[in-house]
Amino acid sequence: METERTDFLIIGSGVAGLRAAIELAPHGRVLVATKDVLRESSTEYAQGGVAVALSDEDEVGIHYEDTIKAGDGLCREEAVRVLVEEGPERILELIGWGAEFDRTGTKLDFTLEAAHSRRRVLHAHGDSTGREIERVLVNKVTTMKGVKRLPFSMSIDLIAEDGTCYGAYILREGRVCRVVARATVLATGGGGQIFSRTTNPEVATSDGMAMALRAGAVLEDMEFVQFHPTVLFAPGAPQFLLSEAMRGEGAVIRNIYGEPFMKHYHPDGELAPRDVVSRAIVSEMVRTGSGHVYLDLTHLESRFVKERFPRIYRTCLQFDIDITRDRIPVTPAAHYTMGGVRTDCDGRTSLRGLYAAGEVACTGVHGANRLASNSLLEGLVFGARAGMAAAETPLTMRELQGLASHPSGPWATIEDREEKRTRLRRVMWERVGIIRCAESLERAKKELSSLAGITEERYGTRQELELKNMIQTAIVMTEAAFLRRCSIGAHYRSDHPRKEGCLHHIQWRMDEEGRLVPNRA
Ligand code: FAD
Ligand code: SIN
Repeated sequence: METERTDFLIIGSGVAGLRAAIELAPHGRVLVATKDVLRESSTEYAQGGVAVALSDEDEVGIHYEDTIKAGDGLCREEAVRVLVEEGPERILELIGWGAEFDRTGTKLDFTLEAAHSRRRVLHAHGDSTGREIERVLVNKVTTMKGVKRLPFSMSIDLIAEDGTCYGAYILREGRVCRVVARATVLATGGGGQIFSRTTNPEVATSDGMAMALRAGAVLEDMEFVQFHPTVLFAPGAPQFLLSEAMRGEGAVIRNIYGEPFMKHYHPDGELAPRDVVSRAIVSEMVRTGSGHVYLDLTHLESRFVKERFPRIYRTCLQFDIDITRDRIPVTPAAHYTMGGVRTDCDGRTSLRGLYAAGEVACTGVHGANRLASNSLLEGLVFGARAGMAAAETPLTMRELQGLASHPSGPWATIEDREEKRTRLRRVMWERVGIIRCAESLERAKKELSSLAGITEERYGTRQELELKNMIQTAIVMTEAAFLRRCSIGAHYRSDHPRKEGCLHHIQWRMDEEGRLVPNRA
């Protein structure tokens, strides 16, 4: 098997991976392996903005309080402190590298999003914040000599033995090679594709979580999936996000009879926490027997809407919806994975030599529910920290001879792959979605067990490997949702609607027989 050696291997090229690469470049050879083109990532599609306490009316302490409150009692305070305290420096640094956030005159323009008590969300080109951040980071990485970029290179498994990670097996042009590294940074993003309704791009298939689990690392808080309330629901249209910033600027949610209803559910109305808004929409859809609700901006000045949300305006227009005149049909969709590979505040996982940052990681910074626009900041802050910590990894790269080769064939194939993928995503959306209960979770467990055999084989194509990872992660999410018999943050059990007994984390690892072992922490 072909082997490539590098000092640092980074898997994934969104905000977290690229920010880690920038930190690592002065310390040795860096290889960024990513499964599609470099920019394809959730980061590229992020709309609303990046939260940071930089405005005159804001303070780091207030950002801290808002984040803790959104996390509903399960945030790790140290991680939140790191995020809000280091956030301003990371953003100013990004501006120094050329990021152009929107301004009024010379002053940075801050918008409001749900559960923020201040206007603190920076945005770029109206609603293309992630694209601007990704542009700047890609440019920066491209100018760094020590960073090698490897697009269309899918990591299929970590190389791990005796609690240490030595790199990863990479599938590239139909062949598997071995990349051996002093330290490996997982930055593979989330797993929204596990659900049939999602804002996430195709690459978000939870690969990092599944690989880490198989390699012996600990996952945490896997039951916490954030559902975004307002995602386009129109025939033939993609599941396109309609940014929360629209509600921050005054958009109203109405039921199919045109009635606003959010104030009946929460005093903060449209700007209540996301889980509350998503559940209110589901209740209203059930109450009115409808498949969607409406997001309404028609009362706002048309020029303002077009200038403030140019990308959303253009996209909706392609599907015959003029958002300045028409109400937009929307429903919630899976959006962000709060759980992930358990790390400390420096990205260290439970495996030596393996670091994780961004959406794949669980530092505990989001607790049971992420505060809007905190994840781009998370990628910058914890990506940089993981890079710094990885740079310190001692040179323990062991002799290769002992390391197992990944079998490069013959590979198994998955019969009726598309049908199974659809089935998985539907089960997760219908039974492990916004509202869960013991019965729905039992049924999900049963249906997933019929797909579980897929996780035991090795495959040679991206689509098959992705399905395997999605099934493996979905099983952990479902077991975790089943085990947590209470409701907190984004995890809502209709059979246990109260929060009592809910203030703990659930960690998962895989034992040598491949069984999932939970641990309450
Ligand atoms: P990503 O940006 O998703 O990058 C993951 C990378 O890993 C990709 O390059 C992918 O190709 C690669 N990868 C995955 N698996 C493998 C593998 N097996 N091998 C190799 N490479 C792999 N957050 C905010 O803070 N503000 C917002 O306004 C906002 N808006 C959003 C809008 C949308 C539509 C979506 C989907 C998310 C939004 N979020 C927002 C969330 C935020 O964008 C993400 O949480 C964040 O960008 C994740 O960054 P990341 O670097 O961890 O992962
Ligand atoms: C949005 O623009 O609504 C997404 C913001 C986020 O997920 O943080």
